[in-house]
Amino acid sequence: MSDQYLSKNMLTRRFGVINPESIEEYINDGGYSALKKALSLKGSEIIEEIKRSGLKGRGGAAFPTGLKMEAVNLAEGSSKYIICNADEGEPGNFKDRYLMENDPHQIIEGIVICAYASKINHGYFFIRGEYIKATKIVEHALDQARAEGYLGDNILDSGFNFDIEVYKGAGAYVCGEEFSLLATLEGRAGRAAYKPPFPTICGLYNKPTQINNVETFCNIPHILQMGGAAFSKIGTPSSTGTKLICLSGNIRQPGLYEVELGTSVKDIIEKLGMGVPRNRKIKMVQLGGASGPVIPESMLAIKLDNQDMQKHNLSFGSGAVIVMDDRIDVLDILKRIIKFFHHESCGKCTPCREGLLQILILLDRFIDETANESDLQLLEILIETISLTSICGLGQAAPTAVKSVLEYFREEFTDRIHTTASALKGGS
Ligand SMILES: Cc1cc2nc3c(=O)[nH]c(=O)nc-3n(C[C@H](O)[C@H](O)[C@H](O)COP(=O)(O)O)c2cc1C
Ligand code: SF4
Repeated sequence: MSDQYLSKNMLTRRFGVINPESIEEYINDGGYSALKKALSLKGSEIIEEIKRSGLKGRGGAAFPTGLKMEAVNLAEGSSKYIICNADEGEPGNFKDRYLMENDPHQIIEGIVICAYASKINHGYFFIRGEYIKATKIVEHALDQARAEGYLGDNILDSGFNFDIEVYKGAGAYVCGEEFSLLATLEGRAGRAAYKPPFPTICGLYNKPTQINNVETFCNIPHILQMGGAAFSKIGTPSSTGTKLICLSGNIRQPGLYEVELGTSVKDIIEKLGMGVPRNRKIKMVQLGGASGPVIPESMLAIKLDNQDMQKHNLSFGSGAVIVMDDRIDVLDILKRIIKFFHHESCGKCTPCREGLLQILILLDRFIDETANESDLQLLEILIETISLTSICGLGQAAPTAVKSVLEYFREEFTDRIHTTASALKGGS
């Protein structure tokens, strides 16, 4: 891949170019023309186009968007819902905030097209409570879209009725998870549930519900405009389109970047982020956010491609790239990560609620250099048990960073055991 593909401005093209508070500027720039096109098509034709594009969800799990739309479309019942997940609680991620603050109509247009495809009449914009500026911008954009006939009754004289309500999250990370989000919207405590059934069949108020990430919806107007086949040529065969990358940590130029999928992590760090300050050595890079794996410098050539990453049991999740140089204390970082998930655990299931606490206790033993060999074995059993038996993705993914440190930086643990043994010998 040549450098010309490194930075591919599709979703971020209007950032700083148009005033996000002006629907006129969005329309003058070609905005809402994809919706006009969609309204001339059948729902099934729109879904086929999305399937052809190969678009996968940008909220972390990379589920094919066309299949999700099809499931909602085919689900029985006249009452269905669509939800834009803008909770963005994963540490290291800030892309959805940028999308809302800089181009809110792009998201709204994507939601309306999906709603039309499956004849959904009611939508929710679930926004992280701390995102006060983004919420104001989205609310203003929704008012404008309503006033111009892109929302409300008989949208653009098509006979289609649809509106979107804003719901502000209350700050719990778990509420970005689908079932916790649905529980919150229904006025219940934000707790996850067993799947299946999936929300596409039994979602909000037990009705078929399409839930997608902000960035996923932003891709929809572009797919409608250029056609699914053209979109599928951007990126790689298994990962089409572009990806917003939240680059942070020990990096010269942190920030939000849009890259074509298939770009390597190394290129993102070196060519966009301009490397690590003072040319320090990279110790590790965390992909996707706090719930993602860490990789050593020797693996930075890996590409943002689902298939490539799966071969190594990795994923790029929602797109955070957190760079850590050789000054970090790896176990201290892991302790902070597990502390976060333990704090955010909803408490519903034992492996997550109690298991994460036990991992914290074990991490402290390694940090204090009082751990022994059986603590290491116990840690590995706990990681496996929590990942396999937790009800929702929070518990399932919480130990990922610890697991990958054990895989790529095992000496961070074993060296501390060795020190303990030596200290005991020396003391006896
Ligand atoms: C604990 C937890 C938190 C999550 N937080 C978010 C979030 O803030 N935003 C988001 O889009 N997806 C989040 N997800 C993923 C959603 O459950 C869901 O997969 C996603 O919204 C689907 O959209 P997509 O198919 O467009 O990716 C979270 C999942 C888990 C397990
Ligand atoms: S895994 Fe954690 S957050 Fe998810 S249901 Fe269980 S306790 Fe709650």
